[in-house]
Amino acid sequence: MLRSALLNVMIKAAQKAGRTLKRDFGEIEHLQVSLKGPANFVTAADRRSEELLYEELERARPGYSFLGEEGGRREGTDRTHCWIVDPLDGTLNFLHGIPHFAISIALEREGMIVAGVVYNPANDELFTAERGKGAFLNDRRLRVAARKQLAQSVVACSLPHPSRGDIVLSLSEHAAVQAKVAGLRRFGAAALDLGWVAAGRLDGYWERSLSPWDMAAGIALVREAGGFVTDLDGRDVSPASAGILAANEAIHRELLRVLGETRKT
Ligand code: IPD
Ligand code: CA
Ligand code: CA
Repeated sequence: MLRSALLNVMIKAAQKAGRTLKRDFGEIEHLQVSLKGPANFVTAADRRSEELLYEELERARPGYSFLGEEGGRREGTDRTHCWIVDPLDGTLNFLHGIPHFAISIALEREGMIVAGVVYNPANDELFTAERGKGAFLNDRRLRVAARKQLAQSVVACSLPHPSRGDIVLSLSEHAAVQAKVAGLRRFGAAALDLGWVAAGRLDGYWERSLSPWDMAAGIALVREAGGFVTDLDGRDVSPASAGILAANEAIHRELLRVLGETRKT
């Protein structure tokens, strides 16, 4: 499969960081049973992954700015380009030995996301997308699911941490959506939720209170797979948006309506 030079840079960085994360993940099992638990170890793995990604991307594209979850924004000499990076999405899964986590890398050019890579090193699934060139899972072209009925849909959501989200609103949204769909899921890695919408495994996904690194690459994946992705008011989404709703056109419309109704009650 022929990939652009840009995607190759992003994939190389993701796979390199992925190898170290996978090695660290192998250690978690041992640490799980120690009294101290693996929390500090995971924090170190997370930071190591971000440093590796920074070094790799900076070497390939010197001067690009870099926004990472761990280190914040590092302004480059080229401010029109910015990498948006989550070095480990799904930290809690990783910490508990659940093989559902990812590295997420997006490139923003003049405020527009032009490419996204989401890589789960645990099962070697590599989601890639470049503006105007489609989305792929490894070598397979992706297309969002074609389902039109909510009643047949499997939809992913979040369960906000008590310190960060509005639990009451979240519970009423869950109740409203759950009553209409075939299945509601919570997987715990936003970047993969978006990759899975792009791959048609999930018919839809919504979440409040996300950060740019959680969704930047995933937005590119869903768009390039022919999906609809907006904020929770149906407006154009950007990495700076507070929340996200992604699905195919029909399911997106339905979910937006159901979620909107919960706010009126
Ligand atoms: C989290 C995951 C999770 C989502 C949280 C994110 P982290 O990212 O994506 O699925 O519900 O909002 O903060 O902390 O594992 O990188
Ligand atoms: Ca994240
Ligand atoms: Ca993270």
